[in-house]
Amino acid sequence: MSSLVFAIAIHFDKSLNVKMRKCHVVLTTIFAFSMIVLPLGAFAGGGHHTNGSHHLHVKYYRDKCPQIEFVVAKAVARAFASDPNVAAGLIRLFFHDCFITGCDASILLDSTPTGEPVEKISPANGKNVKAYYVIDEIKAQIERECPQTVSCADILAYASRESVFLSGLPYYPVQAGRRDGFTSRASNIIGNIPFPTMSVDAMIEVYARKGLTLKDLVVLAGAHSIGNIHCKMFDYRIYLNLTDTKVPPMVTSFAAYLKTKCPSPNLGTWEERDKVIVQFDPFSPFRLDNTFYKNLLRGRGLLQSDQVLVSDRRTRRIVRDMAFNPEVWSRKFVRAMIKMGNVDVLTGNEGEIRRNCRIFN
Ligand code: HEM
Repeated sequence: MSSLVFAIAIHFDKSLNVKMRKCHVVLTTIFAFSMIVLPLGAFAGGGHHTNGSHHLHVKYYRDKCPQIEFVVAKAVARAFASDPNVAAGLIRLFFHDCFITGCDASILLDSTPTGEPVEKISPANGKNVKAYYVIDEIKAQIERECPQTVSCADILAYASRESVFLSGLPYYPVQAGRRDGFTSRASNIIGNIPFPTMSVDAMIEVYARKGLTLKDLVVLAGAHSIGNIHCKMFDYRIYLNLTDTKVPPMVTSFAAYLKTKCPSPNLGTWEERDKVIVQFDPFSPFRLDNTFYKNLLRGRGLLQSDQVLVSDRRTRRIVRDMAFNPEVWSRKFVRAMIKMGNVDVLTGNEGEIRRNCRIFN
């Protein structure tokens, strides 16, 4: 909690002048750099998962638009103060953007010239995602200050870093220089976004195609310690007898509690059921922490795709490790976020810098 309060204080204390804020960011960046990025060595550039010949780097906007990180920090902190759910929303947006055709802001497009259904309307992205407005606000401001300079893909990367920080994890340097893509197809969700009933093997395969490891898979799943989930994503686990013996059942007392929050899948209409959500972690819904892993070990995972991580020998080892070492998890989570931000990025002359994140130029 203290670092959360600290984060909000940093972003909102009007008495802090810009110099001090810059100093804070510089210091935390140096600290984070030495703690998180330096040990990564060669990996920092994103390796073969950077499409173009150019690599992302931390000082990308230093001369072009030096205020970008402050603009993003302020906008996300403001949105977070009025609705802390935006942090989870932005982190999930970033994950979905990066997993579908790379971190190219394809998820932000409202339409494309082909008229095909875009990514954001796919049920896998869900109409529940409300955080788009934060990106729109940042883009509108930054277009006034630095026209056609900062990509929507980079704004999303910065905004998710702020979200991670506001949710209590270390501030980390974001490598920038991504360009915005020209495609967005709802059909690209298939095979790219993991779904709740996926097997561990299938999840490993999806992550591997993004250059992410088994460890990254388990470490990133810890994002499910914040935010909300529709009951319909797991109600079959609490109401119906599972036939899949590979998935450990939910512990009975927790299932009984969830039944008081979630209606049976046999009751009500789909639309009614579509509205019911619960928090992933009701005890600290806005704090990224390793409670997620402790809960998995106690049989209190909501999503089948999370709980199944305990039943597989390869992933169980990592779940245990993360459950007993909160610092190790937070460091690894941040590193995995940086790594995810490098997936199949467009750089150099690829793509474009959109003026409006929702449409092509
Ligand atoms: C096996 C991989 C994953 C699966 C199957 C999965 C599935 C889901 C599902 C079904 C929800 C609930 C959506 C809803 O009910 O509207 C959700 C929420 C969420 N997921 Fe994942 N997810 C996965 C990995 C990740 C990763 C890698 C991240 C980020 C690093 C992430 C971040 C989140 C967040 C923050 C939420 C809460 C969103 C909100 O409250 O707005 N997930 N996920």
